[in-house]
Amino acid sequence: MEQQVVRLCFSVLILAKTLISSPVPTILDTDIGTDYDDQMALSFILSNPDGFDLKLVVCSTFNTTARAQIVAKTLAIYGRYNVPIAIGRNTGVSTMGEYEWAQNYTLEQFKNEGGTVYENGEDALYNELQKATPDNIYHLIEISPETSVGDVLQRLKPEITKNIRLFAMAGSIYRGYGNSSQPSKEYNVYIDIPAAKAMFNASWAYFGLAPLDTTIFLQFNGPVWQQFLSYRNKNKHVQLILDSYTTWYNNGGKGAGALQPFSPDIGTSTMYDVLAAILSLYYPKTITMISRQLPLVVTDDGYTRINATQGQPVQSAVSFQSENPYNSTSMLAVVALYSIIFS
Ligand SMILES: *[C@@H]1O[C@H](CO)[C@@H](O)[C@H](O)[C@H]1NC(C)=O
Ligand SMILES: *[C@@H]1O[C@H](CO)[C@@H](O)[C@H](O)[C@H]1NC(C)=O
Ligand SMILES: *[C@@H]1O[C@H](CO)[C@@H](O)[C@H](O)[C@H]1NC(C)=O
Ligand SMILES: *[C@@H]1O[C@H](CO)[C@@H](O)[C@H](O)[C@H]1NC(C)=O
Ligand SMILES: *[C@@H]1O[C@H](CO)[C@@H](O)[C@H](O)[C@H]1NC(C)=O
Ligand SMILES: *[C@@H]1O[C@H](CO)[C@@H](O)[C@H](O)[C@H]1NC(C)=O
Repeated sequence: MEQQVVRLCFSVLILAKTLISSPVPTILDTDIGTDYDDQMALSFILSNPDGFDLKLVVCSTFNTTARAQIVAKTLAIYGRYNVPIAIGRNTGVSTMGEYEWAQNYTLEQFKNEGGTVYENGEDALYNELQKATPDNIYHLIEISPETSVGDVLQRLKPEITKNIRLFAMAGSIYRGYGNSSQPSKEYNVYIDIPAAKAMFNASWAYFGLAPLDTTIFLQFNGPVWQQFLSYRNKNKHVQLILDSYTTWYNNGGKGAGALQPFSPDIGTSTMYDVLAAILSLYYPKTITMISRQLPLVVTDDGYTRINATQGQPVQSAVSFQSENPYNSTSMLAVVALYSIIFS
């Protein structure tokens, strides 16, 4: 795409968005640090303060304190010390390719600069969600295994969940990893199946789903990525991505599964989670996506299945408007990367 075409697309998309809404109170629940897409989703959210009024970032599952450090460094670079970080229960140890990037920025430093860190992430999430009312609808962007949300749902009343719109990267309906024609056990679901069951069974105001069916195609590459690279050393938010992505890539990320080849020079790994954030920003529109309302349940072995008798309605982004998925995803790449460039 020509640069001018890209800019025009971006302007039209952002205009279409800003004409219809004001910032929505938003909570992000993330396992940032393991796969790289969480970082892109967080940067995208921070780059769109006109759409997201970010109230809390929760870090969930495995080495949650290390994840919180990555969030803290990101918030510091954006100067967003007003966004509290909540450390969810540490469920164990996992490798975390991105961590080295944030190693030299401590949570103490974040607090000394005015930031807030909640050591009990579940309580912090519960307390923030309690603020949702019919006149103050919250968006919950869920891009982690659902452990923290599952915990909180044990005490959160349905009157409250009816005031929350959920946007989750989770599950696999018709297609699976590697563009398989069979659905997969998707990571965010199978890591904590009881929590996933609770999330899919709750009564949300709206549940927008970004499943593997479409998210497997979200790699940002080609001319849009080359444009993004041209802001290296000129734009601190672009630099944040390039530095942290390169660290992640060199610490094992290069082995991540993806449909197209990737490296910091040619484009990103699969940006699954970014779709959940985009669906939240453009709600109720589902730009470039075909969304179908499906009654979904989580099975005992970690699949998401259509079940007309027991499933709750989920607006599932199951395919793209354009026949070629990469035509649609290059539009999403423009939305995400240009947001960061112009933030
Ligand atoms: C993850 O947790 C283990 C056990 O607490 C610890 O040894 C390891 O250093 C942690 N990794 C990171 C990146 O913090
Ligand atoms: C962390 O390390 C990077 C790269 O060496 C450096 O640019 C940055 O200033 C350091 N940050 C802190 C908080 O020390
Ligand atoms: C995905 O798989 C389907 C067949 O199951 C095939 O028609 C399609 O071309 C594949 N898409 C890509 C981008 O590989
Ligand atoms: C789903 O929620 C209903 C109550 O709304 C409850 O009766 C049912 O047992 C729940 N099912 C699962 C699988 O959690
Ligand atoms: C789906 O619904 C059927 C009843 O139609 C039920 O027997 C089955 O257990 C359900 N499956 C799951 C995974 O909940
Ligand atoms: C859409 O996909 C077709 C087929 O791959 C390609 O020829 C065309 O250039 C794409 N259009 C855009 C705008 O990327």
